[in-house]
Amino acid sequence: SLPAVEPGALAGRHVVVTSGPTHEAIDPVRYIANRSSGKQGHAIAAAAAIAGARVTLICGPVMLPDPPGCDVIHVESARDMLAAVEQALPADVFVGAAAVADWRVEAATQKIKKEQGAEAPSFALVENPDILASVARAQNRPRLVVGFAAETTNVIAHAREKLARKGCDLIVANDVSEGSGVFGGDENEAHLVSPIGVESWPRLRKEAVAERLVARLAEILNEKEA
Ligand code: CTP
Ligand code: CA
Repeated sequence: SLPAVEPGALAGRHVVVTSGPTHEAIDPVRYIANRSSGKQGHAIAAAAAIAGARVTLICGPVMLPDPPGCDVIHVESARDMLAAVEQALPADVFVGAAAVADWRVEAATQKIKKEQGAEAPSFALVENPDILASVARAQNRPRLVVGFAAETTNVIAHAREKLARKGCDLIVANDVSEGSGVFGGDENEAHLVSPIGVESWPRLRKEAVAERLVARLAEILNEKEA
């Protein structure tokens, strides 16, 4: 019943996908992370490869195997992810599915030790680069730049604001509030938010969301070229 991806729908295209969390080092043994599993981003990379694209998947630390048919680059931090994305361009499509850490700390080069009677350390957070916004504004901007918006309230409104602020063509928005089971789970309920409107999909397995998204991306690319 699902719209299967036409084989060859993305033949000749280069698709760059980011997936997973990033890890931001505090010191050589500690880091800041988030709960992203990478399941949705990896499924998108796999579906794009099945559709015939050359796929570069740039992923943070995940517990998943590399999807078949993709060139996979493993990174840790947001800054490493940005550098790998810049290396991977040019591309026809960029899909930013990674849960990039918004902030990092100025990492210590040695393990931070507990000193007898000393206060607990505190850390000043520094903002990370915005990979999606940077790709959307690059000289060699991909024709199609797609972001994600994981929200816990006002999903569509926040997605519209992100679409405008980051200068991308499409935002895949979803509700990740507690109880939705989306973060780390196998299913996703996606809303495709573009400047012309919103297309809401039912709750589907992440693989099915990936297939539908890849089919839509192929359509949009073809429309742009028509
Ligand atoms: N993103 C990115 N680089 C960042 C932060 C976010 O590329 N430093 C991308 C994500 O991969 C996603 C989109 O931007 O495609 C939206 O991420 P999100 O965290 O929802 O947006 P933020 O702008 O960080 O807003 P907030 O976390 O405050 O909701
Ligand atoms: Ca964020």
